[in-house]
Amino acid sequence: MTTLSPQHAQLVSAAKQAYDNAYAPYSNFFVGAAALCQNGDIVSGCNVENASYGLTVCAERNCIAQAVIAGEQEFKTIVIYTEQVKLTPPCGACRQVIAEFFNQDAVVTATNHLGDVVHWQVKQLLPDAFTPKDLS
Ligand code: THU
Repeated sequence: MTTLSPQHAQLVSAAKQAYDNAYAPYSNFFVGAAALCQNGDIVSGCNVENASYGLTVCAERNCIAQAVIAGEQEFKTIVIYTEQVKLTPPCGACRQVIAEFFNQDAVVTATNHLGDVVHWQVKQLLPDAFTPKDLS
């Protein structure tokens, strides 16, 4: 069993705040994410859609980009928040970006307004990921 990070409640709260700002007029599928950086900072992001649908960026990738903008590139964990009964796993593109920045043993958590929680390790979400190590 995976234990929740000590900052779990703070991460859920930050993810929910981002969720409240999600821009999803086309899908009406609102997502918030919050990540705990190695330096202890919490960063968040929401999905941002576009009338040119393919330009949509998911909450997880916007969250990670926020950290990079702030100068942080190493993460401990990430929480994905939706108000769906079925918990939302990261999409394929987000799995690739998570694998770029997170340790393969790091935990990705999905939660919802009901307090349901599911965990995955990065290596479960994207086994044999193509990462920076493959370029060296
Ligand atoms: N979405 C996310 O933000 N994260 C996920 O993990 C799954 C999907 C967004 C993209 C789009 O705005 C909406 O949810 C429906 O796909």
